[in-house]
Amino acid sequence: MSYVEEFQPGVGALPPRAAYRSDAPALSLNGTWRFRLTDRVGGDTGFTAAEYDDSGWAELPVPSSWPMHGHGKPAYTNVVYPFPVDPPHVPTENPTGDHRLVFELPADWPAGSTVLRFDGVESYGRVWLNGTELGWSTGSRLPVEYEVGGVLRPGRNTLAVRVHQWSAASYLEDQDMWWLPGIFRDVTLLHRPAGGVGDVFVRADFDHVTGAGTLRVETDVPATVSVPELGITDHPTGESVTVDGVVGWTAETPRLYDGVVATAAERVPVRIGFRTVTIADGVLKVNGRRILLRGVNRHEFHPDLGRVVPSEVVRAELLLMKRHHVNAIRTSHYPPHPEMLALADELGFWVIDECDLETHGFEPNGWRRNPSDDPQWTDAYTDRMRRMVERDKNHPSIILWSLGNESGIGFNHGLMADWARKRDGSRPIHYEGDHACRYVDVYSRMYASHEEVDAIGRHAEERHPDADDELDARRRGMPFIQCEYGHAMGNGPGGLAEYQELFERYERCQGGFIWEWLDHGVRSHTPDGREYFRYGGDFGEELHDGNFIVDGLVFPDRTPSPGLTEFAAVIAPVRVTVDGARVQLRNTYDFAVLTDVEVRWELTDDGVPVAAGTVVPQAVPAGATGEVTLDVAAPSGTGERWLTATVVSTVDLGWAPAGHVLGVGQARWAEAAPVALPAPTPPTAEADGYALGPARFDAEGVLRSLGGLAVTGPRLDVWRAPIDNDKPYEAAWRALGLHRVHHRLVDVTTDGDLVVRTRVAPAATDVGLAVTYRWSAHGDTVRLVVSVTPEGEWTVPLPRLGLRLAVPSTVDNVTWFGGGPGEAYPDSRRAALVGRYSAGVDALQTPYVFPQENGNRTAVRWATLLDADGHGLRIDGAPTVEFTVRRWTSEELDAARHTTDLVPEEVLHVNVDHAQHGLGSGSCGPAVLPQYELHAAPTTFEVRFRAL
Ligand code: GAL
Repeated sequence: MSYVEEFQPGVGALPPRAAYRSDAPALSLNGTWRFRLTDRVGGDTGFTAAEYDDSGWAELPVPSSWPMHGHGKPAYTNVVYPFPVDPPHVPTENPTGDHRLVFELPADWPAGSTVLRFDGVESYGRVWLNGTELGWSTGSRLPVEYEVGGVLRPGRNTLAVRVHQWSAASYLEDQDMWWLPGIFRDVTLLHRPAGGVGDVFVRADFDHVTGAGTLRVETDVPATVSVPELGITDHPTGESVTVDGVVGWTAETPRLYDGVVATAAERVPVRIGFRTVTIADGVLKVNGRRILLRGVNRHEFHPDLGRVVPSEVVRAELLLMKRHHVNAIRTSHYPPHPEMLALADELGFWVIDECDLETHGFEPNGWRRNPSDDPQWTDAYTDRMRRMVERDKNHPSIILWSLGNESGIGFNHGLMADWARKRDGSRPIHYEGDHACRYVDVYSRMYASHEEVDAIGRHAEERHPDADDELDARRRGMPFIQCEYGHAMGNGPGGLAEYQELFERYERCQGGFIWEWLDHGVRSHTPDGREYFRYGGDFGEELHDGNFIVDGLVFPDRTPSPGLTEFAAVIAPVRVTVDGARVQLRNTYDFAVLTDVEVRWELTDDGVPVAAGTVVPQAVPAGATGEVTLDVAAPSGTGERWLTATVVSTVDLGWAPAGHVLGVGQARWAEAAPVALPAPTPPTAEADGYALGPARFDAEGVLRSLGGLAVTGPRLDVWRAPIDNDKPYEAAWRALGLHRVHHRLVDVTTDGDLVVRTRVAPAATDVGLAVTYRWSAHGDTVRLVVSVTPEGEWTVPLPRLGLRLAVPSTVDNVTWFGGGPGEAYPDSRRAALVGRYSAGVDALQTPYVFPQENGNRTAVRWATLLDADGHGLRIDGAPTVEFTVRRWTSEELDAARHTTDLVPEEVLHVNVDHAQHGLGSGSCGPAVLPQYELHAAPTTFEVRFRAL
């Protein structure tokens, strides 16, 4: 048995303690190291000696994930282990990275104790300093410290680290992400002054009734704490001090007080947030109030660097979350870089800190030998919990400790929970995998349907099969969260507004966390230099889970996808309702008073502003509704008239500059005056087809030109390039053949209109759609009424129902009046506002890492497609259409595997749809809600065309 196949978590480490940076000397060992990759455990350790010549080795930055630097390759599996399940054994072929750093100890480095700290090594790190072995560690996303005072030398020192990709601990680290070995977090030398502070535990409670804060700092040596702003000076640690009139910390009001914990030898700065987490009456509360989690699951990943995320990227990403009104983060599925938690304290997020634990790969093996229920692994489990809690305990942002993810259930979870409760009774315990809630304090689920959340909200959920009356009653009395919901893979998720409605309706349902924040695509380039992102299977993995790794609200480069824009609209802090000139503002914050805002309103006719103004509302307390009445002097008009009211902040919020939008509402003030079409002119038969006003048709009744503009089609279209969330439908769609329908011409007749009848159906089945296109010309407008009648027994919803046409690629300037500016689908359209928008065709595409249907503009009243000279086409819905323009067909989009597979054609493909099927969350969760399913049913819709 090889030495990496030990059940125990490590050897030689110091006891875990809080992460902090004191005034004691510290030396970062991050930088350029020497590196050598081999494929076996147990190779010669000669490289650990100071005199070893590593000049032939590669250079590698530390921190790093070595496969991102050309040494080996990333590999992706979701659930399954990429090695035989035979714990604690791992493959003989075990990528092994030898790392070496020669460094100078500063001349003034004090004698005595010094600690060598690693913040993250994946998965097994064995360490030597100046040839002396210090120990080894596992627990990749957890810190480890070694005492090195006796080994460190003045001047030149040699640090050698041997990292094995696979170890017994790999069985505990089966999170859904790339397998990426390396020393991927900071390496630091920390001097430990004699009489210095070892561990610090800041306990800062808030009494929401009196407004008093109680501070008690625990240290392992006698010390004092001072918080000048609160008049606390040299207060002994270990003793409580209560201060009146403290401002409590919340995610909305992240008030921190700077303090310092000191001994004669060392000063440790601490940032204190006073807050108290409780579960009372079955509700999770902070500072006495129910909170609503509007959260995301956050992994640590960078498209170029792997598990290393530069601190400026982390800050930018947390700011992006705040600006999209995200108020909670689950650190799925391991503790993050410690700096991220400091930022969460500062910017304000509710955090579930999750332990580095997942054994999901046992599930396909019937959970046989699952470490969670095996005493051989107890130390490894409790060690992980301990290292997380000790490291992170001083962050007010953390409100729940999570035992890990998808590890089945076993007594080791109970032992982790027991340990955490004893050490820190101030935070409830979370673990989704404990379905009966034996060991946890909150009921957590992933991907529960709307229906089930509704039942849970009513305390009417099904009893867990293993639960007796007592356990059942206990769970039924717990607060409920969805630790994962809304699967943001590709286009989607849909149905978020309906979830939010449930979270707001039922006190018990306290929100949740979208799966997930980020697409973990690996940035790559084609030989001709075009950027794209790789996913599972793109590195030749033997087993992989494809593009299941790209399922975030932001793209790998952290640009927002439409899913994030939609989520932001759904969870916007101010719910704005426009009713005539009255605008209601519901403040959905749990704590923050709505103040320093103004309501900007605009009245538009057909999307053109005709009046505007600004009103300053009175302050609105959290949870309350305020109102303003607008003084609108409206000119007369005949267009479709909308009033839009936008609540914007008038001050810098710390996370967004003044002018940030906190909520938008719209209401239609007037319908457009009806358009009277001129009397029709009848079609005339021509040698090779038909003429109808400005339109020319071929003999089969297919439109070929309009006012001289070449047009092909339109004809009925039911196919969309399946989105990831179409998983519940896609197989049935393909089996039926919706991606390969035939159009059989029945006849072309004239009866004052040009009437074309077809039957649209896939081969091999007797189901189909009878379609009648009725064309008439009215002056320069051509009107098309399409009637669709399903034939046979339709058992699947339709992806879309509408028309597809092709126009020259020169008419690629698009303007529309309808929903926008971004894409929207029936169950994801809260972010779409009625207005007039313009964009080029390229900007209308959403570059999902795995190509799929995208870019639909919803409720479009009319759209124009114009060339550079202003010539082209106008399309009117009667009343509205769903509208898509792209440089490739849906079939090409369907066939593409990466964005760079899509090659622009000479024509634009335009979809003018009566409707699309919803998005749902079916890539991992519930399918489309019934009200957003598109069923084959008798349908008539109308579209008008005009050459411009
Ligand atoms: C959950 C899991 C996540 C992720 C997600 C699907 O079951 O906790 O890690 O795999 O499903 O994307």
